[in-house]
Amino acid sequence: MAIKKVGVVGCGLMGHGIVQVSAQAGLEVVALETDAGALEKGLGRIRKSLDKLASKAVEKGKKTADVAKAEADSAFARIKGTGELGDLADCDLVVEAIVENLDVKKSLFAKFGEICKPDAIFASNTSSFAIGAMGEASGRPGRMVGLHFFNPVQLMRLVEVVRTDATDDDAFSEARAFGEAVGKVPVSCKDTPGFVVNRLLVPYMVQALLMLERGDASKQDIDTAMQFGCGHPMGPITLTDYVGLDTTLFILEGWCENYPNEPAFQIPEILKRKVSEGKLGRKTGEGFYKWDGDKKA
Ligand code: 3HC
Repeated sequence: MAIKKVGVVGCGLMGHGIVQVSAQAGLEVVALETDAGALEKGLGRIRKSLDKLASKAVEKGKKTADVAKAEADSAFARIKGTGELGDLADCDLVVEAIVENLDVKKSLFAKFGEICKPDAIFASNTSSFAIGAMGEASGRPGRMVGLHFFNPVQLMRLVEVVRTDATDDDAFSEARAFGEAVGKVPVSCKDTPGFVVNRLLVPYMVQALLMLERGDASKQDIDTAMQFGCGHPMGPITLTDYVGLDTTLFILEGWCENYPNEPAFQIPEILKRKVSEGKLGRKTGEGFYKWDGDKKA
């Protein structure tokens, strides 16, 4: 694989995980956050996650404590936190994982186009915007792909690798190879709304919320039904809390605006209400359920 040095812009929920799995794969990583507090928080999460994974490997007898600790330490040491965009200049791959705002993303990609080396690959972890729009903004549409990871990045095995009509073959195959190198199973998808997973998952979550709204079943029963009836690790209402109610609403608002005739895209009132109350799910400690960190209270 030609990718040896990766830049990740955004060290939040998704970005910190992408930084971490890249470093664990032995790659040199630049983690960029313009807000110093957010960078410190992201790096703290990575340290905690690396330590947790190390202790689980020891518990399961897969590694000795010394080896597990040394690997976690060296992965962490491969990460360089920065607030300077110029530090991305010599990265082979730059992955954007910032706020879901297309204008902000486009202006970031325009900057990548100015400062990054000519053969760099540009990727977005967006869950809802067209990859092509960001490629155009960068001025290098042939170098642009989507790399859509899943939350929590450290544990979820999939990455969707998205190509536009303009994506160069080598940029696409390198992006797939990167996905494999960071321990994921890559699937290829065209630049369509929601790619594969969110196009199926978000309408499913919507139907669960509409059932709840109609009073067809309680949130616990809806979740239990899908957990034990279909073997899902989490039911749809818990998963909406886990993904974030604001993120789910945001995806739906964009889709409803752009595809008003698609019946699968609709916004349950209960979702809008919770978001307006600031109940965003796990991240705020309450959504449809109450949360204590990563676990339901
Ligand atoms: N790093 C390291 N360890 C972690 C971790 C992390 N980031 N997150 C959780 N863990 C640890 C936990 O602490 C726990 O450790 P323990 O066994 O010592 O207590 C262990 O991993 C297992 O976690 P859980 O006890 O919570 O048990 P689960 O077996 O349920 O696994 C899960 C958790 C993998 C999150 C599983 O519940 C799951 O697969 N849920 C579905 C998640 C999903 O569907 N994600 C995709 C969302 S859609 C998306 O991201 C796209 C976006 O665009 C919207």
